Amino acid sequence: MLKAVYPGSFDPVTNGHIDIMERCSGFVEELIVAVLDNPAKNSLFTVDERVQQLKEVTKHMPNVKVKSFYGLLVDFCRQVDAKLVIRGLRAVTDFEYEFKMALGNKKLDDNIETIFISSSTKYMFISSSSIKEIAMFGGSVDDMVPPYIKDQLTEKFNSREEI
Ligand code: COA
Repeated sequence: MLKAVYPGSFDPVTNGHIDIMERCSGFVEELIVAVLDNPAKNSLFTVDERVQQLKEVTKHMPNVKVKSFYGLLVDFCRQVDAKLVIRGLRAVTDFEYEFKMALGNKKLDDNIETIFISSSTKYMFISSSSIKEIAMFGGSVDDMVPPYIKDQLTEKFNSREEI
């Protein structure tokens, strides 16, 4: 069975990530979206919130599963028995970071391959941080995230204002 892991922080998931998942789920039998549980990163959404959000926005893709992981990606891949890692590439600027990570993972486990999928042009300039910034200041993120994530962002920033 061709199984792939699509790892990331997904804080929050964007239309760009969903585009990669939709395209990838068409050629693998199972796609595991893996949310990194990184306590060192100051995330807006908790890991549980991100997992729940991803389950909601991927429910139209029956071969997509969502899980969280802690530690090394290669260990997670072995745990779920996947030999393929998917990463999206938005621009040349992503390349150096992604290439280093792919080489690092290959060094840690020679059985794991990384495949890069180029981002669709309309999503090339979006990132989770820019979306959070726009939403925090009340700008429109309509074309960047699904309506469900937009509501989650509004709710999160409103609850922060109330503190
Ligand atoms: N569309 C829109 N945005 C995209 C995107 C796409 N297709 N692809 C990436 N991005 C953006 C994200 O929104 C995010 O933006 P931000 O920096 O503004 O938040 C940024 O690119 C990177 O995020 P993401 O794809 O979630 O990756 P990451 O760098 O946060 O996570 C891991 C990378 C989880 C894969 C990596 O850190 C990892 O494997 N960690 C485990 C530890 C390990 O194994 N280390 C050894 C590595 S050799």
